[in-house]
Amino acid sequence: MTESRFVYDDGDIDTNGSANQHLSDLIARRYSRRQTLRGGLTAMTTAVFGGVLMAGCDDDGDLVTVEPITVSSGQAASVSAGKTVTLRGTASSAAQSVRWTQVSGPQVTLNNANSASATFIAPAVSASTPLVFRFTGTSGLGDSAAADTTITVTPATLDFVAVAKNRNDLVTVPAGYLVTVLYRLGDPINASTSAYANDGTDTNFAARAGDHHDGMSFFGLAATGATRDAAGSTRGLLVLNHENITESYLHPRGQTTTGGVRPEAEAIKEIEAHGVSVIEVTRGASAWSYVQSSALNRRITPNTPMTFNGPARGNPLLRTAYSKDGTQGRGTINNCANGMMPWGTYATAEENWAGYFRRDRGDAAVRSSAGRAKENVSLARYGISEGRAGNYGWTTVTPADASSTIFRKWNATAIADAAADGTADFRHEPFQYGWIVEIDPYDPQSTPRKRTALGRMNHEGVEPSRMVAGVRPAFYMGDDAQNEYIYKFVSSTPWSASDANAADRLAVGDKYLDAGTLYVAKFNADGSGQWLPLTFGSGPLTSGNATYPFADQADVLINTRLAADLLGATPMDRPEWTAVNPANGEMYCTLTNNSSRSPARTDAANPRAYVDPRTDGRNNSAGNVNGHVIRLRENGDTTEAAAFTWDVYAFGAGSDLNKDNINLSGLDDSNDFSSPDGLWFSLPSNVAGQGASPVMWLQTDDGAFTDVTNNQMLAAIPGRVGDGGTKTVNNTTSAGTSTATTRVGKAPGATLKRFLVGPKECEITGITSTPDGKALFVNIQHPGENGGPDNITSNWPASQSGTSASASRPRSATIVITREDGGLVGI
Ligand code: FEO
Ligand code: CA
Ligand code: CA
Ligand code: CA
Repeated sequence: MTESRFVYDDGDIDTNGSANQHLSDLIARRYSRRQTLRGGLTAMTTAVFGGVLMAGCDDDGDLVTVEPITVSSGQAASVSAGKTVTLRGTASSAAQSVRWTQVSGPQVTLNNANSASATFIAPAVSASTPLVFRFTGTSGLGDSAAADTTITVTPATLDFVAVAKNRNDLVTVPAGYLVTVLYRLGDPINASTSAYANDGTDTNFAARAGDHHDGMSFFGLAATGATRDAAGSTRGLLVLNHENITESYLHPRGQTTTGGVRPEAEAIKEIEAHGVSVIEVTRGASAWSYVQSSALNRRITPNTPMTFNGPARGNPLLRTAYSKDGTQGRGTINNCANGMMPWGTYATAEENWAGYFRRDRGDAAVRSSAGRAKENVSLARYGISEGRAGNYGWTTVTPADASSTIFRKWNATAIADAAADGTADFRHEPFQYGWIVEIDPYDPQSTPRKRTALGRMNHEGVEPSRMVAGVRPAFYMGDDAQNEYIYKFVSSTPWSASDANAADRLAVGDKYLDAGTLYVAKFNADGSGQWLPLTFGSGPLTSGNATYPFADQADVLINTRLAADLLGATPMDRPEWTAVNPANGEMYCTLTNNSSRSPARTDAANPRAYVDPRTDGRNNSAGNVNGHVIRLRENGDTTEAAAFTWDVYAFGAGSDLNKDNINLSGLDDSNDFSSPDGLWFSLPSNVAGQGASPVMWLQTDDGAFTDVTNNQMLAAIPGRVGDGGTKTVNNTTSAGTSTATTRVGKAPGATLKRFLVGPKECEITGITSTPDGKALFVNIQHPGENGGPDNITSNWPASQSGTSASASRPRSATIVITREDGGLVGI
């Protein structure tokens, strides 16, 4: 016979008395349960409540005295989703085994179930939900006793105290959270590369972390080997973009520009500090770290060979002296946001690539006389005007190896007597950029593929829709420049779930990303919208078009912007990241700001033009200064839809600004923000990304609110399209006035909260987590970007230790955020 006395320990749960069961109820039910279970086994049972003794005889007739059942106060409680709950039972010495089982409620995974102390993570629920667990003790004779307890789970909340706005040179997170600096500019990624001196003397960035960490995804590895385990949460590959450089800190005394010529060694460093990193990371006993010597570590740079896939592969506009058939390319640059493909690859987006190109005066005339005047239309639409020197002056390098073209390729100027088809110079090199590039992080030898079916623009990122078997998936993208558009690509291929674990991941990419339809969004004033297909031969997208005579579908894709203009897409306030709510498929897009949005040009989806007051003496700015986050719901909730409804999830603004015309979402001190950029939903593989209301993360890249706070990251539990109403906004700037009626979601209130503030002069961008949601990776980009060797304006990350590091140059870096108690981040 076994008697048991049990309590459960609630770990970090919320002890909300109002939902508690009464102690007497618990005792009564446990007693009743025990009687039932023992009924066939016991000759005699007596029990006394009040005296709190239960006694009975075992089968041998020996009298046994039983410990009273007790429950500690405050332990029968409710707990919110995502919390770790510890169930703890105590059995008397006669018990040879004990176990915890779940009796009812949404199924959870019980860890250490065959012990007195089991744990589980409270599951996602949409309303208060009871879960019943049973503790059973069994004697060597098979006799057992059991008792039940109920844990009531309530929906997840943002369970942290909002971080105060601040301008400290630190990453600040809520109490109870830890920040670990993981992977900094210059950190070596193989055993033979020296530690980063961080004084401008370091070389070989092809074997070091690049600069300006941006979009990022975590790819799980098996704990015991270098193979893919999509659920792996203690070991994985972190893949991240290096968007740009803070050139002043990369060299001992800043850039050398003597005589208007750049030294080769400096240019090589600057080029190689761009691109993408693949690094192995592991969770040790106390913290996460990256594995410097991992064979899976890789740097992809603007010099790494790539192939072109999709309709534009081999197109005459992609032919260069390096790729005479237009099927190959070299490198990727200005990689901003990203996408994690469901089959285990990383997609990186080429954003402000155009600025790297030089185009001398006279180029347009050469192209025109070669019969290629339409290339001038295209280059102009993408901002590559004549007279541009190209970022950082790389084309001024005279390489030691005269045959090298790694500098020359950035000069798009057509050479007058070179082949008109572009195979003898780099006049077509600009057409090789502006694409989404897919990388297999698990195969360091693989060649990245540029996916031309997804169009060519200032790609900010590419977010896959939910994957539904038998349905063609969508991939959402922003074109980040003023008054550009939001796009979606719908694959020709319906989703097949087995592809998620295919061995040849890039072949799966071929299957879903090389054929399909690219659409651009048009937002209507009534809250509806259309996806307009960029299909050659339909509407204005023909060879007879007067603005730009399209030759074929490849020409449409290479000139995505021109095609979208002609279709009448809605010019937006700089579309940055896209994110998809895993609960309902709604798509969110950050519209970071738009200084060219005048009152006369406002519309329902971009309704604000106002003056934002500065308190630091700098000039006030005008337009949509603080940005907003738009969202849409596909008609029929299907990715294949041609139409949608939309509203604005939240408008950025300082909390002190006018609530009728500017601070339309009623932001307060705990959640006011400006210039939303990074945007990401927690993964559906853990509770933070499950249920009806998953957590969304919002990061800022701002220069308007920086008189009040450094850039920041907020957590949100958003509602859904249409949960608010319409609002009419009165706009006023020096350019005039206007009235615009928009659709604004329910004011977020406490469902939007500041989680992190970064160090000085940084942007917060790039976010991913382990599948279990217990480690959140975030990038801190360009701290101290306005300074230089003689004027160091941030010492982060050295300053993160809290001690003075006044001589330390700032470094972009990846951080890991964990909870002190090891739980899920954010809830
Ligand atoms: Fe690289 Fe649009 O941010
Ligand atoms: Ca940036
Ligand atoms: Ca960005
Ligand atoms: Ca930005």
